[in-house]
Amino acid sequence: MNLKATGSSLRLVLVCICLWSAVLYAALASAPQADIDARVEALLARMTLEEKLGQLQQLDGEANGNYRPEHVDLVRRGLLGSTLNVRGASKTNELQRIAVEQSRLKIPLIFGFDVIHGYRTIFPVPLAEAASWDPALVERAAAVAAAESYAAGVRWAFAPMVDIARDPRWGRIVEGAGEDPYLGALMARARVRGFQGDDYSAPGKVVACVKHWVAYGAAEGGRDYNTTDMSENRLREIYLPPFKAAIDAGVGTFMSAFNDLNGIPASANPFTLTKILRGEWKFTGFVVSDYESVRELINHGIAGNESEAARAALTAGVDMEMVSRLYAKHAAALIREGKLTQATIDEAVRRILRVKFRLGLFDHPYADEAREQTTMLSASNVQTARDVASHSIVLLKNERNTLPLQKDVRSIALIGPLADDQENMIGSWSGDGRREDAVTLLAGIRAKVPPAARINYAKGCTVSAAGDETNAEALLNEAVRAARDSDVVILAVGESADMSGEAASRASLDLPGRQLELAKAVAAAGKPFVVVLMNGRPLTINWIADNAPAILETWFGGTQAGNAIADVLFGDVNPGGKLPVTFPRHVGQIPIYYGHKNTGRPPDPKNKYTSKYLDAPVTPLFPFGYGLSYTTFRLTNLTLSALSIKPDGRLTVTADLENIGARPGDEVVQLYIRDVVASVTRPLKELKGFERITLRSGEKRSVQFTLSSEHLGFYDRAMRFVVEPGEFQVFVGQNSAEGLQASFQIVK
Ligand code: NOJ
Repeated sequence: MNLKATGSSLRLVLVCICLWSAVLYAALASAPQADIDARVEALLARMTLEEKLGQLQQLDGEANGNYRPEHVDLVRRGLLGSTLNVRGASKTNELQRIAVEQSRLKIPLIFGFDVIHGYRTIFPVPLAEAASWDPALVERAAAVAAAESYAAGVRWAFAPMVDIARDPRWGRIVEGAGEDPYLGALMARARVRGFQGDDYSAPGKVVACVKHWVAYGAAEGGRDYNTTDMSENRLREIYLPPFKAAIDAGVGTFMSAFNDLNGIPASANPFTLTKILRGEWKFTGFVVSDYESVRELINHGIAGNESEAARAALTAGVDMEMVSRLYAKHAAALIREGKLTQATIDEAVRRILRVKFRLGLFDHPYADEAREQTTMLSASNVQTARDVASHSIVLLKNERNTLPLQKDVRSIALIGPLADDQENMIGSWSGDGRREDAVTLLAGIRAKVPPAARINYAKGCTVSAAGDETNAEALLNEAVRAARDSDVVILAVGESADMSGEAASRASLDLPGRQLELAKAVAAAGKPFVVVLMNGRPLTINWIADNAPAILETWFGGTQAGNAIADVLFGDVNPGGKLPVTFPRHVGQIPIYYGHKNTGRPPDPKNKYTSKYLDAPVTPLFPFGYGLSYTTFRLTNLTLSALSIKPDGRLTVTADLENIGARPGDEVVQLYIRDVVASVTRPLKELKGFERITLRSGEKRSVQFTLSSEHLGFYDRAMRFVVEPGEFQVFVGQNSAEGLQASFQIVK
């Protein structure tokens, strides 16, 4: 063989390929979205391995939104594809200009940020939004967040967080939609649609990142970052559905989680990252790791060193590495050593470039600096935040119609560490929100009542878990005096915002610090009182549930919290939210959730050898789906369209809802099913439909739901999704614990 001749013809071929791809790239550079795959291939063909690895790298900016000095050089050399936390139109534009004007291939950066419940206009925490049971409203909130993010140059939101959480000790329960896969799926869909719309390249839209893939919410003991271990059946039926809903809504990206799942960390798990996500679900976007979760594979003990960690994550299907730099450091050597293929890298780059093209970043890389400020906190954004906050409030108790309060009240004692607190109102993950934008409860009430009304404000204690304030006695006495001195008492207690969220697990769910003591002292003053709870998770509030005449669960309501709570307290808004998560009586009951199995020995108070506790009931303090109204609703006339259907048939369930009280109001009608006998044990109840309905006093409406195989099926022993013949019970109610009941059969 003439090696010399072969060598020169090889060189010629290479030159031709390079020339051809350059020409093709130039031709395609301004082609429409439909040509994305061709544009990706043309660009990929021109990239060096170093530049490819650059696209796989995401680095963190400064907390204040600035990029770091080292980013400039990395971007110029094409060694950085993305940042997180860099934000603001001018900051993102500055760095983007370097990418687009100074780097060899001019590939734009994608700027990511945690837009969890708002960018600048802060909405209620996601758990609260889920309590609205109003997906259309939640979609509007995400759309506002998207518009503000877009204006700030942030085209990628690390949201929605859709982890099912059945352990309120886990602080991140605040970021999701609670315990139920069906409600979680609808909220996931709504949020993805709000962020992305039909086409995330549209102005004002951003690409969403559904997280944390997967089962992160099942952390043992509710301790953040802890191990999860579960059957595939549970994984598919409980933890996957919100992610699947996000896929069906077109979500562009995924984030791989911190946790170990059944012995394989989620950030190196080929079963979830490749088999399910790419194989079964045909996902064509990209996966970013969570913060250093690639490096953490070493701590998990699945990789012995950095290079093994990089290889494990890349081959499992994690495309972009957040913050740790193991891909950039080790991938080239791994390829040389034959431990990693060039094709794996190419595929990861392809997926990332595809999303950058889909976002329209190549055509519109910059933010409009002139429009940034007018977009933030616009009147309509703020109004939406107020609506979402008031619709997220859940009325847990209202004895003798304590609520709503009269606006012409002469004097109100407003007591509690959270009553006049801007910082905590905006919640656990407040984007670029500012505490000074937040309306406190004191400000909200002031704006609601006539100037002549006296508001006796007293802090009462701090919210700190230590409860070690030096002036505790004086604070408490002042609060009691304020209560005695007033016609009615509003007591705002709960958690500080940083007691929930990431790395904020709690072993106790009691009110932290001296707040219960404060509640008891204030109650002893003998005035009618209302407890306003602010918190990011279910709390064990037995004493309050027994002794307070009225309780409002207001979560952390965001920028407009104070106005929204005042709207509800004084009856301008009739509360209609429902709990998206069970409230336990005791931390020892956890995990406690409505969709549990029957067991072989269901609880029976007359029989010791049944499934229960010696020292606490098995029932929750407040069940999933629970929430009251200032009016009264009656559900009647549950009707099924058939007594039996085929496995692939459809069944219509109808019931009549009537407002038999004196005020207009909202009710969330909920449909649950039970598959009575099946080849795999089934939950006692599963939510399969709901609708939030507004009725005038005296108004009656028929509510209709359709059940089909997607609602009636489950994963059998061979992981096939099947609908099995037999009896199904149907429940239609106002919460998960009670309702009308009927049944039907599935027949072959
Ligand atoms: C860690 C969190 O788990 C994740 O939710 C977040 O998006 C990243 N950090 C980036 O801030």
